[in-house]
Amino acid sequence: MTERPSWAPESIDLDRPNAARVYDYLLGGAANFEKDREFGENLLRIAPESATAARLNRAFLRRAVKYCLDNGIRQFLDIGSGIPTAGNVHEIAQRNEPSARVLYVDREPVAVTHTELMLKGNENAAVIQGNLIEPEPILASPEAARLLNFDEPIAVLMVAVLHFLPDDTEPQRAVARYVDAITPGSHLVLSHVALREEQAAEAWEMYKKSTTPALPRTRAQLAEFFAGTDLVEPGIVWAPEWRPDPDDDTNEPFRSHIICGVARKP
Ligand SMILES: C[S@@+](CC[C@H](N)C(=O)[O-])C[C@H]1O[C@@H](n2cnc3c(N)ncnc32)[C@H](O)[C@@H]1O
Repeated sequence: MTERPSWAPESIDLDRPNAARVYDYLLGGAANFEKDREFGENLLRIAPESATAARLNRAFLRRAVKYCLDNGIRQFLDIGSGIPTAGNVHEIAQRNEPSARVLYVDREPVAVTHTELMLKGNENAAVIQGNLIEPEPILASPEAARLLNFDEPIAVLMVAVLHFLPDDTEPQRAVARYVDAITPGSHLVLSHVALREEQAAEAWEMYKKSTTPALPRTRAQLAEFFAGTDLVEPGIVWAPEWRPDPDDDTNEPFRSHIICGVARKP
């Protein structure tokens, strides 16, 4: 049995690897346990590019938030926000625009606990526990009422999370509900695991045994999630190809294993 640190709520299972904490490990964070590190090390043996993939996904998130800010967005709903590492949405947004408001949502208690600690004293950001595929409690939460004005454009982010939701849970319907809730001029930011190499398939077989199984989707399948919105240039691409900064390395963009896009609600 793994020893439980004081900040980790009883409700979290420390004896099985968990995707949020494995991701934290891959990004060099401290909110992970022995089983997550073992899993992360195995994953890195099978798919050494996993750490790169996590970093490139995070870089896409950063550029997408900046894009939204440049397009006048001042409120962010980040669903499947994960365990805080460097460069969280509120840090990027509030550095550029101190009044920017951010609501984080994650279904993992450990992610929520960590985010609460990080947000202490920040009046313009909050975190709630919620499930992406149950939009109503999230949209009707007191925190959403306090932080988000649905009459003004909002960026809804679901970054590296939809691959944890198989089609039988109808994530497409949930995303459509968020699109329905936001006003024209709002943005939808999505990234998703996509496969190219067989070794990645083996890696995902491993993920299936974790508490949070994952499945890859194709570009056409990711495009379905953008129904009712207009993709901005360059459309759905590998993560490093999405509006790279001048010094970004865009060679072999598939090594990100992540496809992504940003769209505007017309
Ligand atoms: C790989 S992390 C991505 C974190 C962050 N969005 C990023 O891209 O850096 C995926 C997160 O989604 C969360 N998650 C998975 N399924 C979810 C669901 N149905 N509802 C809300 N969060 C979910 C996990 O707990 C984890 O924290």
